[in-house]
Amino acid sequence: MPITSRTRWSQRPRVLRLIYRSQVAFNPVGMPFTEEVQAILSESRAHNAAVGITGALMVSRGHFAQVLEGPASAVKALYGGIACDARHRHPLVLSVEDIDRRAFPNWSMAYVNEVMQAAIPLTFRDAAMDPSSLSASGPALLAFLRYAVQEMSPEAISPRPASA
Ligand SMILES: Cc1cc2nc3c(=O)[nH]c(=O)nc-3n(C[C@H](O)[C@H](O)[C@H](O)COP(=O)(O)O)c2cc1C
Repeated sequence: MPITSRTRWSQRPRVLRLIYRSQVAFNPVGMPFTEEVQAILSESRAHNAAVGITGALMVSRGHFAQVLEGPASAVKALYGGIACDARHRHPLVLSVEDIDRRAFPNWSMAYVNEVMQAAIPLTFRDAAMDPSSLSASGPALLAFLRYAVQEMSPEAISPRPASA
């Protein structure tokens, strides 16, 4: 049977993008903040690379925002686990959509740190800077994180400056 562009399309695995936000819930007597985030990034990058998931994570004003992109079944399974993780609470899914193209194809999990967040133009920051704000929609967070990752070459994580 000839393969038409239509059949090729239907045979492509479905790629899903899920964006959520949540409240940081680190144990106050646990590891320092940057080490907690570093631990999350290390396990995320190893697992995500193995299952074809890419994305970006930020922490702002006591909240996480994360974009997960990948095969639909892998994203759903991962989010099911993330939502139960005791390091955050009240996860709220902001958007779920099928996508043709990933926003973070080269990142098993990019991290947009505070220094980068502060350097992002106000037009992006207004809606997305505070993931706890009611105006922090999925599209606004995606635009913010995509700008940061494309324009600013994100570090794995940068420690707070010694003077801060
Ligand atoms: C804010 C946040 C984001 C996370 N993101 C990921 C991720 O992208 N990939 C991942 O494998 N684990 C991520 N984790 C860790 C998972 O919740 C979970 O600990 C990990 O997948 C190991 O699960 P398992 O013990 O069931 O194998 C994240 C955790 C938190 C708190």
